[in-house]
Amino acid sequence: MSKLTGKVAVVTGASKGIGAGIAKALAAAGASVVVNYASSKSGADAVVDAIAKAGGKAVAVGGDVSKAAGAQGIIDGAIRAFGRLDILVNNSGVYGFQPLEAITEEEFHRQFNTNVLGLLLVTQAAAKHLGEGGSVINIGSVIARSPMPGGAVYGATKGAVDVITGTLAKELGGRKIRVNSLNPGLVRTEGTAGMIGPESDFEKLAITQTPLGRVGMPDDIAAAAVFLASDDARWLTGERFHASGGY
Ligand SMILES: NC(=O)c1ccc[n+]([C@@H]2O[C@H](COP(=O)([O-])OP(=O)(O)OC[C@H]3O[C@@H](n4cnc5c(N)ncnc54)[C@H](OP(=O)(O)O)[C@@H]3O)[C@@H](O)[C@H]2O)c1
Repeated sequence: MSKLTGKVAVVTGASKGIGAGIAKALAAAGASVVVNYASSKSGADAVVDAIAKAGGKAVAVGGDVSKAAGAQGIIDGAIRAFGRLDILVNNSGVYGFQPLEAITEEEFHRQFNTNVLGLLLVTQAAAKHLGEGGSVINIGSVIARSPMPGGAVYGATKGAVDVITGTLAKELGGRKIRVNSLNPGLVRTEGTAGMIGPESDFEKLAITQTPLGRVGMPDDIAAAAVFLASDDARWLTGERFHASGGY
């Protein structure tokens, strides 16, 4: 029997990037998976197809995490498809970098609405269904520990994610639900494609600061997510794990 056989997982923002990698890895470990998307239905359908071809179970469910109705719809989709919920991966996220003088109200709300409010709304809807042994994994970022110029807004959203992790670990611990942050370093995804690449100074700088000497891949993060979702992590809650090659 695989580690997550019989479990049901929701992965927000799983139409591409890190979320897609996590959805595939949870399914490979035996979980039935809800592959959430906001705008990329075709991306989510491709992830579901890949999971099915590998012998796993998944459905695509659209929904904007930053709206209460969208968040509720994602969790309702999981219950409708699979009848229960055990694992929530709050992965949906947007990022943008700008120096202090270029920060706008619009950009602040764009990032906070998805990365912070969205995480809270989906977790609120999910908490009604999670039971003993449930696992919530919040995808944060190393930027919360290692701030970088231009990252005031994005870094603040990820600092908030870590605080929420600690808070909800205390609120939900009595129900034996675990809540942890999984914080990647730089990862090659559709979202970072415009920022990194062989000629990118940003990528070169990140690699020089990464003891393991490369950029991360979605699979690197997914392996840690499977561990945190599983009973192997049964005594771990309220923790911040950095999946970053030592960055
Ligand atoms: N890549 C990195 O280097 C890195 C490093 C540290 C942390 N992270 C974090 O890891 C997570 C994933 O990053 P990524 O690079 O894989 O991003 P990505 O390739 O840009 O993918 C982002 C995903 O989030 C979804 N999404 C965006 N807004 C949403 C909303 N309002 N409701 C529901 N889903 C929404 C997108 O859905 P649609 O495409 O369907 O719209 C997409 O599936 C983010 O939380 C990010 O902050 C990334």
